[in-house]
Amino acid sequence: MPDQLTNSKRLWDSLMEVAKIGATEKGGSRRLALTDLDREVRDLFVAWCREAGCSISVDAMGNVFARREGTDPSLAPVLAGSHLDTQPNGGKFDGVFGVLAALEAVRSLNDQGIETKRAVEIVDWTNEEGSRFAPAMVSSGVFAGAFDLEYGLSRTDVDGNTIAEELTRIGYAGDAQVGGRPIAAYIEAHIEQGPILEGEQKTIGVVQGAQAQRWYEVTLTGQDAHAGTTPMDRRHDALVAAASIVTEINRIGLSVEDGRATVGMMEVGPNSRNTIPGSCFFTVDMRHPDEDVLLGMSTTLREYAAGIASEHGVEMDLREIWHSPLVTFDRRCVDAVEAGALAAGYSYMEISSGAGHDACYIARVAPTAMIFVPCADGISHNELESATPDDLAAGAEVLTRAIIELANG
Ligand code: GLV
Ligand code: MN
Ligand code: MN
Repeated sequence: MPDQLTNSKRLWDSLMEVAKIGATEKGGSRRLALTDLDREVRDLFVAWCREAGCSISVDAMGNVFARREGTDPSLAPVLAGSHLDTQPNGGKFDGVFGVLAALEAVRSLNDQGIETKRAVEIVDWTNEEGSRFAPAMVSSGVFAGAFDLEYGLSRTDVDGNTIAEELTRIGYAGDAQVGGRPIAAYIEAHIEQGPILEGEQKTIGVVQGAQAQRWYEVTLTGQDAHAGTTPMDRRHDALVAAASIVTEINRIGLSVEDGRATVGMMEVGPNSRNTIPGSCFFTVDMRHPDEDVLLGMSTTLREYAAGIASEHGVEMDLREIWHSPLVTFDRRCVDAVEAGALAAGYSYMEISSGAGHDACYIARVAPTAMIFVPCADGISHNELESATPDDLAAGAEVLTRAIIELANG
């Protein structure tokens, strides 16, 4: 094999072309799942995959698969990909890199005239981010049997639009069955989204698994009242109660080693400057690499929040809407990633994922692994997210080598 199978300039140019779709002022991307911009990026992705000789199929969750046939079509394929949707103020690389690295792998196999026994499929999973429709990774979740199809299609955004309606609207309600077919292996390349690789000066993260997550929705209901006439001791201010709970959530995150606890979204009602807020809705994202510790964090949240709600005389509805358990990736796939890094001559280290990824669900139904590359200052879910062309090219190169090994094994 030649020293370098992939074309780093082509990968970078493709990333920059996609970044034009939903480009933000500060250099990021805003391409929420199943919006017109998501349709635009999907159309471009599909066109590029067809040019690379792939056949396209779209399943009922709108997951797009681009297949480069193998020499034995009866064998289960190797899948590689990630997601093309972004956070509201997202970067150019989260998700997109994994999809375009897989496309670069297929383009490079074509260039090098390399055939594989198993087919290789590039995949774009619908609504990985979970910011328009909760929960995150919902379509890879349906693919893996974690959710049923009806649950997936009925998820709504804040305006009440369902995934099913929006898939139909943008023309990506496919007819292929979601999952239920054998997959030989799934490999997802991604920027690390944290500071470890950069700090350790390593080019490749050989990902061993991902931490557990629990998501909550909290609704506090107090009483709307006049801001000028209602004495301070007669108020049932839902926002003041929420403020204490939010501060406690931050404390919970700080109180355990490797804890993560975030309130990322809040709606205050009636949201009028001279009315005491009678309602407050917010979301909670808690994570930890140990399931028991995560459960303890969740118990602390419930107990504290109940106490605060009663102190302020507000009703509380706190529900867990999602649990993504701890994930350990497949040894053979992880070894294929490590072997790829070694053969291509990149520095590498073992790493665990702090973020959730479609790979976390696919690991339930197929041998799975991930490849991380560094990103500047570990910043992600931010328009300023940045990664170097060389590091991204290294990730695509390792992905290509892992695919070849797994698709011939
Ligand atoms: C995925 O974007 C996550 O929240 O980890
Ligand atoms: Mn991602
Ligand atoms: Mn993300």
